[in-house]
Amino acid sequence: MLAPATRMVLEQAGIERGMRVLDLGTGAGDVAFEVADMVGSSGSVLGVDQSASALRWAARRLETRDISNVTFLRDDLHTVEIADRFDAVVGRLVLLYTPHPAEVLRRYAALVRKGGLIVAMEYEMRAAGSIPSVPLSERVVGWITEAFGRSNLDASLGARLEPIMRAAGLTDPTVVGLQSYFAPDDPAGARLAAATVRTLLPVIVRTGVAEPEEIDIDTLEERCATSLADGCAIFKPPVLVGAWARI
Ligand SMILES: C[S@@+](CC[C@H](N)C(=O)[O-])C[C@H]1O[C@@H](n2cnc3c(N)ncnc32)[C@H](O)[C@@H]1O
Repeated sequence: MLAPATRMVLEQAGIERGMRVLDLGTGAGDVAFEVADMVGSSGSVLGVDQSASALRWAARRLETRDISNVTFLRDDLHTVEIADRFDAVVGRLVLLYTPHPAEVLRRYAALVRKGGLIVAMEYEMRAAGSIPSVPLSERVVGWITEAFGRSNLDASLGARLEPIMRAAGLTDPTVVGLQSYFAPDDPAGARLAAATVRTLLPVIVRTGVAEPEEIDIDTLEERCATSLADGCAIFKPPVLVGAWARI
């Protein structure tokens, strides 16, 4: 779902053929694969992530694709020592999990050649919801943003990328927000909402945001789909904010 917006941000930022790119918090490799396609065989991508299970999944996906310019490294992005230098450092939905995003950007800006790029993409989750407002969709967005908030994670980090980049010493960052819109009868909106709640369920319950009985996870997707269709409501997932700056 995020691929088109991600591609737009990366293209606008200036990711080009032949570049050597570092992908922070690469996870299952979605951004790394997108970048690999853009930089071509004369470029390369190194994806770093601390999660062995995510990297195992990324490696399996790599095997099934005809991609030879991506490698993965398991490490913590706060402490990993990387000797290479890059034309660009990118990261999507990863600064959210770091206590000091500006320090992370500053650390990685030092690995980018002069004239190279830093690209960050993060969510502005509070922009999610439905038009017109449907109570269940609003509740779902509330559970998600509140679960992040109670975990001391900033659900609106994307909206703050500009000052964060400046705090990292990056000048004149460009910042854009991109949002998808799902039609009332498009099942993808309800599927996305329910799947997000499912992954966050332990946190939502542990932090006291909502009770399992209220969420009723196994019927949530169907209830969301019905309420969006009955209300003729468009579902808006979070805005993906892309921010980039040249070194
Ligand atoms: C929400 S996922 C995003 C994955 C990928 N960037 C994407 O957009 O599809 C966040 C990823 O950041 C990784 N991550 C979080 N903190 C990290 C850290 N300190 N060092 C390395 N990876 C980290 C997690 O393991 C996870 O794979």
